[in-house]
Amino acid sequence: MSEISVDPHVFVVFGGRGDLMARKLLPALYHLTAQGFLHERCVVLAVARTDGINDEDYRTWANDKLASAGIDHESLGGWCDRCLHYQSIGKESPEDFGVLKSRLEELESLYNLPGNRAFYLALPPKAFSSTIANLGDVSLGTSNGWTRIVVEKPFGRDLESAQKLNQQLHSCFAENQIYRIDHYLGKETVQNLLVFRFANSIFESLWNRDRIDNIQITVGEQIGVEGRAGYYEQAGAIRDMAQNHLAQLVALIAMEVPAAFEADAIRYEKAKVLRSIEVIRPEDVVLGQYGQGSYGDKQVSAYKEAEGVAANSRTETFVAMRLQVANWRWQGVPFYVRTGKRLPHRTTRIIITFRNPPVSLFHPHQSSRVHANRLIITLQPNEGFDLSFEVKSPGEPISVQTQSLDFRYEEAFAPLRDAYETLLLDIMTGDQTLFVSSDEVESSWRLFTPLFDERLQIYTYPAGTWGPEEADAVLNREGRRWRNL
Ligand SMILES: NC(=O)c1ccc[n+]([C@@H]2O[C@H](COP(=O)([O-])OP(=O)(O)OC[C@H]3O[C@@H](n4cnc5c(N)ncnc54)[C@H](OP(=O)(O)O)[C@@H]3O)[C@@H](O)[C@H]2O)c1
Repeated sequence: MSEISVDPHVFVVFGGRGDLMARKLLPALYHLTAQGFLHERCVVLAVARTDGINDEDYRTWANDKLASAGIDHESLGGWCDRCLHYQSIGKESPEDFGVLKSRLEELESLYNLPGNRAFYLALPPKAFSSTIANLGDVSLGTSNGWTRIVVEKPFGRDLESAQKLNQQLHSCFAENQIYRIDHYLGKETVQNLLVFRFANSIFESLWNRDRIDNIQITVGEQIGVEGRAGYYEQAGAIRDMAQNHLAQLVALIAMEVPAAFEADAIRYEKAKVLRSIEVIRPEDVVLGQYGQGSYGDKQVSAYKEAEGVAANSRTETFVAMRLQVANWRWQGVPFYVRTGKRLPHRTTRIIITFRNPPVSLFHPHQSSRVHANRLIITLQPNEGFDLSFEVKSPGEPISVQTQSLDFRYEEAFAPLRDAYETLLLDIMTGDQTLFVSSDEVESSWRLFTPLFDERLQIYTYPAGTWGPEEADAVLNREGRRWRNL
């Protein structure tokens, strides 16, 4: 049995028949039960607009979806029958939400629950606002126990819409009830950035402008738009990846040591970083869209050829930026960040390049050129670290070679837990450390909203490459280059 204690509660999922529920939330809820974190008084109530479905029908649907996720009927051992319930909210009228409230109370009485409730909005973003308003209207913002609300990404489309959504949430819920999800933060390797930085004193004294030359962060996808044009045409790389994942990685790498390992202290330090980033200059951002290209023998088509993409689409599938965190620790250290679709391979990497030694003792011999030390943090795939350093290779004349120390998660530990399992457990135990605060989300939008500017050119890059050549220029003009690993 686990030491983590989850209060009895009802876990309500709006969008209970959607893709996220089918592929991520249901398997995560089942795995948490199978691992002993959830007991029989943790009840799931799936909510959707479809009428005429009862609990039995829903459980049949859930069984099928879990089977598709690789969890067979036998392993489930009747979990769906014990835990899952369904409630329609029809046309989402106040009366429908009244019925939902009665159903909640009925379940709480049936299972003798103290009124603890989590409302997970696994909905398209356009449905967030009306659902929050409806919950407020029927006084579901509070209860006799705890009440928490979980909002999926993307949180807003720009600064103004994010501020509006925050205001609306705050009119029904306090900030400590609100869980804004960025599922990247649930990854073990992302959380480990905190442990790596704050449990290893050898790095802290190096973690600043005196010792670090530059930091590069790449979040690369090999896949293209893959049937999600409806969503992606409205989003693009800045909204889909940069505003949330990239911003969070910069914040975790650049933040000061928090006063305590507590949600408020950590989120406060991350928000401070995001607030410290200077306005991005037009010459420091490059937007791209993939054209036709290839992976080995396999030809792939251009973004504009995908079904549902406008022939004249200006949606960026790539963005590269130079960010400057303007504080005492980082002044003068550029953060080069980029993300894109149809890059050579899927990767999330942070590369910290330390400064060169001030004097090269081994200069006369070409083979003794000294390379800067690098710390490479790989978040996916093949999670781990590599620290490069220079050694003398045997023989004369003296010759210097780069070698590395490395650590791979999969060699040291059992397979890593899915991010959604971590995040759901945190919601149920009331730990907000891995969720984004209103301050963070607004600071991030403040930084990126000016990039939605029609005057910025969108460069085409061949699928299967590291983005448009113009993205190289951002580094080249400062005598650096992207490290394409
Ligand atoms: N799918 C993923 O892998 C994934 C990953 C990360 C984040 N997310 C985020 O998670 C959320 C849900 O994603 P999803 O892929 O599950 O979406 P989805 O399948 O398109 O929609 C989820 C459910 O929302 C309901 N819905 C659709 N339009 C609605 C509307 N206008 N008003 C009220 N309900 C509506 C539908 O249920 P009914 O019609 O039955 O009510 C639908 O089944 C989104 O915010 C998405 O960005 C998804």
